[in-house]
Amino acid sequence: MTITIIGSGKVGASAALNCGLRELDDLLLLDIIHGLPQGEAMDINHQLSEIGLDCIARGSNNYEDMRDSKFIVLVAGVGRKPGMTRMDLLKTNAGIVKDIAPKIANYANNATLIVVTNPLDPMTYLALKKTGIKKNKVMGMGGMLDLSRFKSFIQEATQVSRHSIQALVISEHGENMLPLTRFASIGGIPLNEFVPKEKSTEIFEQTKKVAAEVIALKGATVYAPGNAVATMIESVVKNKRSVIPVSTLLEGEYGCDDVCIGVPAIVGTEGVKKIIELKLDSSEQEIFNKGVNSVKEGIKALQL
Ligand code: 2OP
Repeated sequence: MTITIIGSGKVGASAALNCGLRELDDLLLLDIIHGLPQGEAMDINHQLSEIGLDCIARGSNNYEDMRDSKFIVLVAGVGRKPGMTRMDLLKTNAGIVKDIAPKIANYANNATLIVVTNPLDPMTYLALKKTGIKKNKVMGMGGMLDLSRFKSFIQEATQVSRHSIQALVISEHGENMLPLTRFASIGGIPLNEFVPKEKSTEIFEQTKKVAAEVIALKGATVYAPGNAVATMIESVVKNKRSVIPVSTLLEGEYGCDDVCIGVPAIVGTEGVKKIIELKLDSSEQEIFNKGVNSVKEGIKALQL
């Protein structure tokens, strides 16, 4: 068993480190840049060695080394620059995913594939179609990251322990993200018992916008995405059956077909074990529909 991370930039390295810190499995960092994955693997090994964690990291420039990996994390692609939306990356990153997908199909078609490359939902769809991996084993990492931001804003507003906060973000990992304030809770108590409506609307807006703010300040988002990848993989490795929002292929769920978008799912050994269908109210449904249309337009532009 190995977790292969394709793309050894900051997010790829953070995903590898977070998986190592949770002792999920040995790690293979793959990148076309000579030296980069090897250097990251060395640095990660040094940290894990001192803590006494027995995941061994390796770096490689050879795709063949991913052979028989249990997990593939696809991070390769260009990142969002200040002022860009995730959808602005569509054409460039589609070319990269189209190039790498046949290699995944060739060497690791039984793997669970976690897609991180943006725009997340169209890239998840593209990777699903081009690798031929079973649909329940292809999951886009978007909502898990968005909910980590949502939780952080809920904590700021309520000053309660982060540990007590439950939150969910669905729909597009993009302009039509849907932080579900109505479903957020603190120790089982609805968020709206803690904050007035205006505050939860503010938290909703902050959650949608904050990635752009981080990118403007430091050039990229790094730690939260790496952690979100590790949470998803951990649920599969340990068959935890955690409820996690993942971008997955809808075939009738939420009244949608042939699109990958973020929805809550029970995640275990087989990947997506079950999609959970929520009853959305009219304003939530409107945003969700916009998300679906936006992702579908992205998919259409890929001319598959
Ligand atoms: C993020 O939300 C840029 O999609 C990336 O951090």
